[in-house]
Amino acid sequence: MSIASPGAARDAASLMAARKIAISTGGGDAPGLNAVIRAATLGALERGWEVWGIRQGYRGLLDDAPDGLIRLDRERVRGIAHLGGTILGTANRGDPFHYPTPGEHGLVPRDRSEDLVRRFRAEGFDALISVGGDGSMRIAHQLLQRGLPLVIGVPKTIDNDVCCTDLTFGFDTAVSIATEALDRLHTTTEAHERIMVVEVMGRHAGWIALNAGIAGGADAILIPEIPFRFEAIAEKIRLRESRGRRFSIVVAAEGAYAQGGELIIKDAGDAFRRTAVLGGVAERVAKELAARTGKEARSMVLGHLQRGGGPTTADRLLALRFGAAAARCLVEDCGSGMVALRSNRIELVPLEEVAGKTKTVPLDSDTVVTAREMGLCFGDEAPGHFVAP
Ligand code: F6P
Repeated sequence: MSIASPGAARDAASLMAARKIAISTGGGDAPGLNAVIRAATLGALERGWEVWGIRQGYRGLLDDAPDGLIRLDRERVRGIAHLGGTILGTANRGDPFHYPTPGEHGLVPRDRSEDLVRRFRAEGFDALISVGGDGSMRIAHQLLQRGLPLVIGVPKTIDNDVCCTDLTFGFDTAVSIATEALDRLHTTTEAHERIMVVEVMGRHAGWIALNAGIAGGADAILIPEIPFRFEAIAEKIRLRESRGRRFSIVVAAEGAYAQGGELIIKDAGDAFRRTAVLGGVAERVAKELAARTGKEARSMVLGHLQRGGGPTTADRLLALRFGAAAARCLVEDCGSGMVALRSNRIELVPLEEVAGKTKTVPLDSDTVVTAREMGLCFGDEAPGHFVAP
């Protein structure tokens, strides 16, 4: 559903009773969260509503902390659009359906969703703006079914893996940081005539690795969507050697894995955080390539650097557009949904279409084709594919 013009929104707003809305930011942070908070808050204040921020995901509603809810006024959201992190804090062990609760032998997961809905209503909130990734959209959808009156989701993640939106904010920043790292690693890797394997984030999607790998001039890109063969990458490196290029750069998405192999996991998660933390593929690939080519190989993990600091201009703008659209949706009474970018228009998509899905890299996408046409290796090439011109 497309969201109507601001003019129409203002007319509708004047007909509506004052609203009280809450904003929460959940899951891993992403550059641009504060820009969403600012735009959504200003959009709501302009319409005469009251805005509150929920601290640390939903903790501010579920724990009895005195500062669990923060009143958001113009002063509170002044000068924050360019800042990283989130002024509300976030949590990735705060799923209200599996909430960490003290039990006899330590913390146990408990379904606190009804407590959350009760407190939300008791505070007099009319609507929630939930800023998060796929997990947060699933939770938002479940909360609606539990009786939350109205939820507008705003898709956030550096991984760009939320379904039904062309882009999430945070992604452009992560790609820019990874690309800059690749630019820097080129000089040192070439000086030492080494192989450098760089691990980037992205969970089960290869968007960051693919985009940064192409922009940063990597020689091989390993993504979860294309299981790789070690020998295919080694062959690419030997081909480069034969052309006098004595160094090679490989970008590996943390979720990439070898054909017939398995995902490399750093931490399997627990009863509260039910998604595994991935990590270690770069080290594994570097060892294998050193053994197969006889060259010195190093690995490095870019890690949380990709999420730290302020958003790029593109992310800041997208986050501001999403935040303003979230408040606009409430005026239009569009019902619940997630704001999404589609062909450069902001639309509202049903939460049930988003919940529980992952947007991965399509293998026939222009970006993948571009990389292949430039001779980049994905590690799936057939033996003998690399023929020197
Ligand atoms: O989803 C964002 C993300 O940064 C992933 O790319 C990564 O796998 C994960 O979060 C890391 O989570 P944490 O911040 O808990 O280490």
